[in-house]
Amino acid sequence: MTTVQETLVGKDISLAAQLLGAGKLVAIPTETVYGLAANMFCEEAVNQIFTVKQRPATNPLIVHAHSVESLTEIVAEIPPKAALLMQAFWPGPLTLLLPKSKQVPNAVTAGLPNVAVRVPKHALTLALLKKVGFPLVAPSANPYTYISPTNAGHVKKMLNGKIPYVLDGGPCNMGIESTIIGFSDGMPALYRMGAISIEDIEKVIGKITLAITEKAIAPGMHLKHYSPITPLVASDNLEQDIIKHRNHNIGVITYNNYTQLLPSEKQLVLCENDDFKTAAANLYAAMHTMDGKGYDLIIAHKFPEPGIGLSLNDRLNRARAT
Ligand code: TXA
Ligand code: MG
Repeated sequence: MTTVQETLVGKDISLAAQLLGAGKLVAIPTETVYGLAANMFCEEAVNQIFTVKQRPATNPLIVHAHSVESLTEIVAEIPPKAALLMQAFWPGPLTLLLPKSKQVPNAVTAGLPNVAVRVPKHALTLALLKKVGFPLVAPSANPYTYISPTNAGHVKKMLNGKIPYVLDGGPCNMGIESTIIGFSDGMPALYRMGAISIEDIEKVIGKITLAITEKAIAPGMHLKHYSPITPLVASDNLEQDIIKHRNHNIGVITYNNYTQLLPSEKQLVLCENDDFKTAAANLYAAMHTMDGKGYDLIIAHKFPEPGIGLSLNDRLNRARAT
């Protein structure tokens, strides 16, 4: 693993491109979360990602491309429903599992026949992808099982000294990871809930099945994930859980109002008027903040489940898993 004295943070695309071209890792902004990027064709750099994240080599990586046209070196085939989804959601927070081309190193897909691919919606990263001319593999830029980063400061805090550069594209405006869709005989299935709701996917391609089971199909659907160090309770009934745990020093994350049961400085309210898009953009930052406050318990209020609420509860349920 490359060690540096200090990880630099800046907006210098040329420096980022130069480092990536030299086989180094650079953290990059996307609309979902920050990614820890490497040149897809450089196996040594790809392997470094697993070392820096302390991630098992059995957990494959998402490939980021700047356009549908540039997929030719990444995927071997595009089923018709995948093409419809690309048209509807790219650039954007949708990852597709497609048959991989021969050029994709096995380390990227953990030996699987499919490769995960998406075109991210972030001007700086799209410009970077065009400049380097090779696809970038990038998992979220957090240590394995910890909370994903949604700003450059989060990455610096978690990976300082382990990578040379964080390309700072500001706070991620979606704030949770991409939705993942795979295909079996051309039929679509959901592998990870994410920033695009199931309802919105189904408007484009009709009914989809769930590939997610308790046993966790996508390797990254491991039950424990997105977790703060501080124990977290995902709560259906906030006030009841605060009372139940009243002997603890509690911090609260909620999507609507402050509760009267705790001082407001121990609470983070994610949005106003049930605007869950804003709540999503703020959720991981709130978890990072709460995890740094020395509480012995974080209680996070679960969301109503239509739309993106389902994806947000998925993250809260995994954050509390042990
Ligand atoms: O929004 C996102 O998707 C972010 C940004 C950086 O693009 N990336 C991200 O990557 O969340 P990561 O590695 O943290 O999560 C990727 C998920 C993992 O659960 C992984 O197991 C799954 O995608 N995955 C990747 N390649 C796969 C494949 N070939 N087959 C099945 N699952 C795959
Ligand atoms: Mg991740």
